[in-house]
Amino acid sequence: MVNKKYLNIAIIGFMATGKTSLGKELSKKLNINFIDTDDLIEKKMKMTITDIFEKYGEKHFREIEKISVEEVSKLEKTLISFGGGVCLDPENIETIRKTSLVILLEARPDTILERTVNDKTRPLLEKKKKNIEKVMNKRKDSYYKAADIIIDTNNKSIIKIRDEIIGKLIEGEKYEIYKNKSK
Ligand code: S3P
Repeated sequence: MVNKKYLNIAIIGFMATGKTSLGKELSKKLNINFIDTDDLIEKKMKMTITDIFEKYGEKHFREIEKISVEEVSKLEKTLISFGGGVCLDPENIETIRKTSLVILLEARPDTILERTVNDKTRPLLEKKKKNIEKVMNKRKDSYYKAADIIIDTNNKSIIKIRDEIIGKLIEGEKYEIYKNKSK
């Protein structure tokens, strides 16, 4: 019987924890498809995330995000990188956990700040750079509730993080599951 929980791998975590870069590397290594929900939303709306926030506001963005969560959770053999706020909605967590092994990437607030110092593409971070720790703490519980595997990304390269995850998959006897899903 196919275990639906392991059809996909989901990467979650705060903004700038490296979800997209890691997702690309890990999916290549596992030879499975890769999708990023923010990219999907931008393509669908033909607008950047910043413009969506500016024109329609965060509430509307979350509605579009929720639809994308439902869509991508129907996929198989895919590594899905989610936007940092996806876990704010408990229904999203439930949907994601049904078909995905969930990997949470963590980083300290100073690491996030360092990585985003010249980045203007994250509307929420622009307003809250001084408050990263506060926002992070608010979200912590929902991230932990969603996660199967937690990875500390501080002072690590993407390749090191990728290999650490492969190690955890092997350790948890999950590597074969994803390897066997090769295209
Ligand atoms: C958000 C994170 C962003 C993007 C949007 C909102 C958040 O994605 O979805 O700007 O609320 O944390 P990244 O985590 O990929 O930056």
